[in-house]
Order: sequence, then C-alpha cells, then structure tokens
Amino acid sequence: RNLLRNELPDAEVLVVSNREPYIHNLEDGQVALQRPASGLVTALEPIMRACGGTWIAHGSGSADRMTVDGDDRLAVPPEAPAYTLRRLWLSDEEQEGYYYGLANEGLWPLCHIAFVRPTFRASDWEQYVAVNQKFANALVAEARTRNPVVLVQDYHFALLPRMVREKLPEATIITFWHIPWPNAEVFSICPWKEEILSGLLGSSILGFHTQFHCLNFLETVDRFLECQIDREHSTVRAGDNTTLVRPYPISIEWPPAALAAQAPVDECRKSVRLKYGLAADALLAVGVERFDYTKGIADRFRAVESLLEVHPECIGRLTMLQVAAPTRSQLAVYRDTQTEAEAVAEAVNARFGTDDWAPIILVPKHHEPEAVFTLFRAADLCLVSSLHDGMNLVAKEFVAARDDEDGVLVLSTFAGASRELLEALIVNPYDIRAMGDAIHAGLSMPLDQRRERMRLMREMVGENNIYFWAGRMLLDAARMRKRQHIERQIA
Ligand code: F6P
Repeated sequence: RNLLRNELPDAEVLVVSNREPYIHNLEDGQVALQRPASGLVTALEPIMRACGGTWIAHGSGSADRMTVDGDDRLAVPPEAPAYTLRRLWLSDEEQEGYYYGLANEGLWPLCHIAFVRPTFRASDWEQYVAVNQKFANALVAEARTRNPVVLVQDYHFALLPRMVREKLPEATIITFWHIPWPNAEVFSICPWKEEILSGLLGSSILGFHTQFHCLNFLETVDRFLECQIDREHSTVRAGDNTTLVRPYPISIEWPPAALAAQAPVDECRKSVRLKYGLAADALLAVGVERFDYTKGIADRFRAVESLLEVHPECIGRLTMLQVAAPTRSQLAVYRDTQTEAEAVAEAVNARFGTDDWAPIILVPKHHEPEAVFTLFRAADLCLVSSLHDGMNLVAKEFVAARDDEDGVLVLSTFAGASRELLEALIVNPYDIRAMGDAIHAGLSMPLDQRRERMRLMREMVGENNIYFWAGRMLLDAARMRKRQHIERQIA
C-alpha cells in the first residue's frame, strides 16, 4: 500500500481475471461463501485487500447470476470490505468456447508438458476473442482515469492487453502469465500464435514465474512476430508499444491469514488423526490439489505403493491423505484423471490395506484455506509431485503453515517452486521408485535436519512473499511511468 502511495501516487488499480476471489452460492436457501481453489486468487487477493481497487472477474462459481441488490458490484471481503468485485456473466456458449475450449483444451495443455494433446477449434477461438473484448470493454468502462494500473491475469486474457491499450494508450498494463511458457516449437502448434503474441505485447510489463519461461517467450516472439527484441534489457518493441519481459516468481501472503486461527500443531496432529480414523502415532503424508492431470496425483499414489513394497515396515503406519478439489469436470480428460487416481488408490488399498488401516485416503472435495492449513500442520510430510507447474503455491503454503519449523516437503523438479525451495526433497515425478524413496527418506529424516531445511524455506517464502512479488512489478511499473513522463516532456 505504501509502495503504491509513494511510487504510483493516485494510481487507480484494476485487476482482470477469469476466476473470482469470492464465490456466492445458494445452499439450502442460504447464501454460502466459498473461496476458490486457485493459486491466482491465493496470490492476488491479499494484494487487493491491501491496496484496494476493482477486480473484474467472471461470476463463474456464483449460481444464478447472484447479485446483491441487483448490482454486479460487490464490496469484498464481506467481513471487512477493502475493494470492489465486479462480476461479468458469460453465456453457456461463451463459457464453453472461451474457458473450456480455447483456454483449457487449447492453451493449458499447450503450455504444460503433461502429454495431453491440445485441441484448437475455430469456434472456440471466436468465443475467446469475443470474451476478451467483453472484459476489455468492461475494464475500460470501469476506469475512472486515463492511466490506471491494470493487472491482467493469465492465459484466459492473452488478447486483452492490446485491446485495452487501444482504448487507454496511457494505461500501465501489467500482465502475469501464471502457467509455464513452452518453447517456440511447441507454441507453434497454436493456429493463432501471432494474435496471441501480439495481444500480450500490448502490455507494459509481461511477467512469468521463471527466467526460463521468459527466454522461451522471447524465442517464440523472435520466431513468429515482426518486432525488435532488446535482449540486454529484456524488452520487445511491437508496433508502437514496448513490453518489459521479466520473471516475477509468485508467492503467498506472509504470514498467511489462514494461519491466524490455527490450533497448536500438536492439537492439529491429534484432531486430523482422529477425524480420519488414524492411530495417534500414524505417519501422515498429505497432498492438496485441484484434480488436474498436471498435478500427477495417480503417480504419487504409485510412489506410495512403491514405498510400501520396498519398506514393508511402513505397512500399517503410513497414510497418504490426498484432498483434491474437482475442477473443469466438464472435460473428459479431467474426469478421467479423477477416475484413474481413484482406481490407483483403490488398488493400492486393496493390495496393502488391512481392516483398520488404508495407505491412501482420497477426499475428492474442495477444502477452504483454514482446513487445508490444519492438514498441513498435522502432516509429517507434504507431497507436491506436479508433472509440470508454473509455480505451485501449495508448496509455499505448506512451508508457511509450519510455524513449528517441522515437516518435510517433497517437491517436483518440474514445479517452478523447486527453483526457490531448494531445501525440499526434489523429485522427478515420472520416477516412481525414486519418489517412493524420497517419501521414505523424508519420513526418516532426523528432527534437526527437518528443522534446518524448514527454517531456510520459511526464510525464503517469508522474504519473497506476495507483497515482494507485487512490489517488484509495481516498482518496475513506476519507473516506466516516470520515464514516459520525462519522454513526453521532451517531446
Ligand atoms: O495455474 C493457473 C491457474 O489459472 C491458477 O492461477 C489457478 O490456480 C488455476 O489455474 C485454477 O484454474 P481454474 O480457475 O480454471 O479453476
């Protein structure tokens, strides 16, 4: 907030994302509030709570176009309003083509190496263009100033930066791509690669999680677009706009709000073991995800199986508790991901389970952040075995939840978080045996080593928290605005 006030005085902040930060649904005639399972929301919501502004999002989760007194604007968070949530509503056709189609059957598998074939349909593209325009128009209509700071989120809105730039040429548009960016060869599969690149290059700043993704992006632009690339300053000039392309590894709020009301770790350990019918001294590994094929959930169950094979002394002692929020279930590949994980869990339980113990407990249900934090605090180990992930904030949340400085993180080398959380046990999620061994090594690690690793990881996340992430982008934006101001004076 101070940074905004000092460096960007009077700046109006507008966010645009597909996912809304608060979902209102009707349950038994009552309005129930839910916070979606979304890394984007986890990261951005504390920023908006701190600096205020307007967040424009698709009212996707909220049933029946629920409005408050007929207004699509809502002051949130409900308990202490700090910013405005402006919902836009999409028709089934728009949602089908833009969200399920182009974004999640096209761009998602294109950018994640999980060996799911991307599907590109011209009809989806038409909806994607139309929905980007719809959000751009809404954003321009919301803007009260000619040069707001616009924070565009993710692969749902690749075209929107240029659409906004055309209407608000002086806006500072910061676009953050929350998923990996593939190499040029892979990206060339997309039939609308030029349009997507040109849309993104309407931004003032384009952020990725890692330097590797930035380099992939520059290489892609170099191959497919007429533009000038300045590799030294990491900028791209396309038309009359220059875009700074930089890594800003995303993070979480520190300390996280969900930690405030947590019971001491001992109590969390007891209550979770009691809830799931585990022995008081049971070893507990946890996993928390959306049911997405990029998360490698079935493979992590196979790793537990391998561990039990190799280390039979863990039979009857170790339980892997996996909570997984169903997601994008309209798409067959997501339903199949869940079916496969359930089948593997069942097979491992049938092979090793006893009357009073199951090695895998799978709860396919959304959990609110406080419940997730209680699980993290109860666990001996957290397993994040994504096949590919831009960052993965679950890994950082686990670390944040452990203010007792205990607990082991087993983390995929293909998650961006592995570039920062170097003291995790880093695994290749395709190597089932090695992943089983790493879980075993984690569970056998002496307390002093667990503490040392956890302390270092906590230091890293505490310093490079979400305010640091936003701060770095806003400082870059502020410098850019000052430079533009000087250039205009000279002209
Ligand atoms: O990782 C990309 C992302 O958009 C995240 O920001 C978010 O956690 C996740 O996908 C959620 O996807 P959806 O909004 O489609 O449920």
